[in-house]
Amino acid sequence: MEEKAMDFRPKILICGGSSYPREWDYATFRQVADKIGAVLMCDMAHISGLVAAKECLSPFDYCDIVTSTTHKSLRGPRGGIIFYRKGPKLRKQGMLLSHSDGSSHYDFEEKINFAVHPSTQGGPHNNHIAALAIALKQVATPEYKAYMQLVRKNAQALASALLRRKCRLVTGGTDNHLLLWDLTTCGLTGIIFLSLHNVYISSSRFSFCLCIEVNSNPALAVLHFDHRASSFFLHFNINGFFFRCKVSFIT
Ligand SMILES: Cc1ncc(COP(=O)(O)O)c(C=O)c1O
Repeated sequence: MEEKAMDFRPKILICGGSSYPREWDYATFRQVADKIGAVLMCDMAHISGLVAAKECLSPFDYCDIVTSTTHKSLRGPRGGIIFYRKGPKLRKQGMLLSHSDGSSHYDFEEKINFAVHPSTQGGPHNNHIAALAIALKQVATPEYKAYMQLVRKNAQALASALLRRKCRLVTGGTDNHLLLWDLTTCGLTGIIFLSLHNVYISSSRFSFCLCIEVNSNPALAVLHFDHRASSFFLHFNINGFFFRCKVSFIT
């Protein structure tokens, strides 16, 4: 990543992902961003509930901008939130390859606010804002922390069960609520995206991995499907696990 960043010198370096079951190395991202004078942004959509419950490392310690959906592990209504730094800058950026404008204060507020409204969003959805306020109040409670600890424990238990059945998990396990199960050994290929609540299967032409988020009923996997249908339900069994999944093909 550092090599690519030095070659391309992006103005913004983005970390975060949809199916990464390990901790993010934010410190390294920060170092690289500082080196090239880039803004560091994290999309913590999938892990924001864990971040709120302090059940994983926090991107806020390192990033200038943090975005999240509000309807994944954060357990709120469908929506998005953007956090940004304001006030005096914490560090000198762009020591080597500067994009830095040399200013001493962050200037994200106006740009982000303008990009949201009027650029992309109309009037506020007060019902969603109220629901998000409730969700954020809930994630600050000891009950939510206990819930998140259980979610992680469940993910660990599922990882151990799969590993015991000789399934290959990408990275060999999980630090959070996600498992990435490599199904190439089952001969699965194709461009498929599968979702059932918080269970996803995604694939590239050459690989097929199943990403499981353990904050809902774990379910998974695939064997027989009709490629002509655009979407359908699958019932199948892999290594002794039974699953029912809705599959949608993306062309
Ligand atoms: C990292 C990341 N950010 C944002 C989103 C957007 O979420 P949604 O499509 O539910 O709005 C997703 C979707 O899975 C995601 O994986």
